[in-house]
Amino acid sequence: MQPMTTHTPIAVIGAGAMGSGIAQVAAQAGHQVFLLDQRDGAAEAGRQSIAKQLQRRVDKGKMDQQALDALLARIKPIEMLSELAEAGLVIEAIIEDLDIKRSLLADLEEVCSDNAILATNTSSISVTALGANMKHPGRLVGMHFFNPAPLMALVEVIKGLATSDEVAQRVYATAAQWGKKPVTATSTPGFIVNRVARPFYAESLRLLQEQATDSATLDAIVREAGGFRMGAFELTDLIGHDVNYAVTSSVFNSYYQDTRFLPSLVQKELVEAGRLGRKSGQGFYNYAEGAQKPEPATAAAASCEAGTLIVEGNPGPLAELVTRLSESGVKIIERDGPGRLYFGDAVLALTDGRMASERASAEACNNLILLDLAFDYAKASRLAIATADQASSQATNDACALLQKAGIAVSQIEDRPGLVVMRTVATLANEAADAALHGVASVSDIDLAMKAGLNYPEGPLRWSDNLGSSLLHTVLTHLQQSYGEDRYRPALLLRKNRFAEKGFYS
Ligand code: NAI
Repeated sequence: MQPMTTHTPIAVIGAGAMGSGIAQVAAQAGHQVFLLDQRDGAAEAGRQSIAKQLQRRVDKGKMDQQALDALLARIKPIEMLSELAEAGLVIEAIIEDLDIKRSLLADLEEVCSDNAILATNTSSISVTALGANMKHPGRLVGMHFFNPAPLMALVEVIKGLATSDEVAQRVYATAAQWGKKPVTATSTPGFIVNRVARPFYAESLRLLQEQATDSATLDAIVREAGGFRMGAFELTDLIGHDVNYAVTSSVFNSYYQDTRFLPSLVQKELVEAGRLGRKSGQGFYNYAEGAQKPEPATAAAASCEAGTLIVEGNPGPLAELVTRLSESGVKIIERDGPGRLYFGDAVLALTDGRMASERASAEACNNLILLDLAFDYAKASRLAIATADQASSQATNDACALLQKAGIAVSQIEDRPGLVVMRTVATLANEAADAALHGVASVSDIDLAMKAGLNYPEGPLRWSDNLGSSLLHTVLTHLQQSYGEDRYRPALLLRKNRFAEKGFYS
């Protein structure tokens, strides 16, 4: 399907944060853009804010003044809907309200040409519901940009029940032409990103509520071991807790209160207190002038007489860690066994979703220290560990000493099932697998959306394949047993893959 040519004028309705950004994207791609807002002067203000943003690029020598002037000349603030009759694509980015959006769409059907495509940037309203009263619902499609639209690559192209394939494909091709990374999704609550990302916030919030450790340590583990750009607390402080909590609550209610999406009381309390994050000066962290961000809890330097690491059997994903330790001067001895590592008094293993104390009892191994998952053990600068209550302090000391030999900062958390990164990745992959099963989007589009929309280091389904479906299925099964909650039930596709010994991509 061909994208719209630059001869096609684009209209953007609503000149707030999103509308202005979308207008900029379309104008940058070479289109004439009509910008309309019901608030007096808002469209012109939107144009000015684009001018201000891009002037910075000109000042830095990244764009020339002529190009900026030409781009601004292509953006025309208008006051009447009738002025956008020639537009081939109208993108609405007005207030998030079903009735107001429906009324606008009805007005647009009156003034736009029959073959104009109408797109909505809604982040939470069903495209199907928006199209229900339209004369031609086939021409309505979701075009969900991310904030800030000029910088974020992802565009979710959302198909409502009545959206025509041709319209969705045209919008997809146009978004790609504009330099975006489009994905196609069906109109289901949260679409791809706002649904699949829920566990990223939920698991850190739950660990905090369970006193596993403090927010700064959880954030540091997620960043430094998980490879994510930001931890859940710094990210929700940035997004705003009112916004993030509202999205979680909306997805939770839309899925008939499936416990998988259960909102957090910890976050609710922040909202009630008006601690909305950066914008209010306080969230999980304090943003007052001069306030210091707390340091993550890091184990003190430990020493250990042992210099030899015994690797029993196949250590699975920990093999990379073993290589790193070997390169750091730790002598490695390999022997048959169930994949554990022995160093001094410590017996180390990758978490399988059970608490260390439970597993130590089941495996009759008191000095068990569980290691968290890392995105890349060769590069991780921090790793979380959890020790069995039965373990000796010497065993904990020896585990810290071992990891520190490779320059890894150790954050010991309370003994909670699945530690931090492992349970985050397992639940993300689980949600992504369910979204794939329900036909929300293809496996590759789900992964692309999570990478392009949220800068995840890897798509959750590819990540699952890299780790093996069996490992994540085991982790989830153990989490489900530990909590006795449906929230961790393994997704059907993950379960199938585990028994078929295959992946999402194979
Ligand atoms: P905003 O509040 O910054 O801007 C909305 C603008 O629409 C305002 O300037 C308002 O005057 C105007 N408006 C309201 N009703 C109107 C009408 N009937 N006709 C013309 N103009 C009207 O809101 P924001 O953040 O730009 O969001 C807009 C839409 O984009 C919403 O549907 C929102 O859910 C969605 N969205 C927001 C994202 C975000 O991070 N802010 C991300 C992705 C989607």
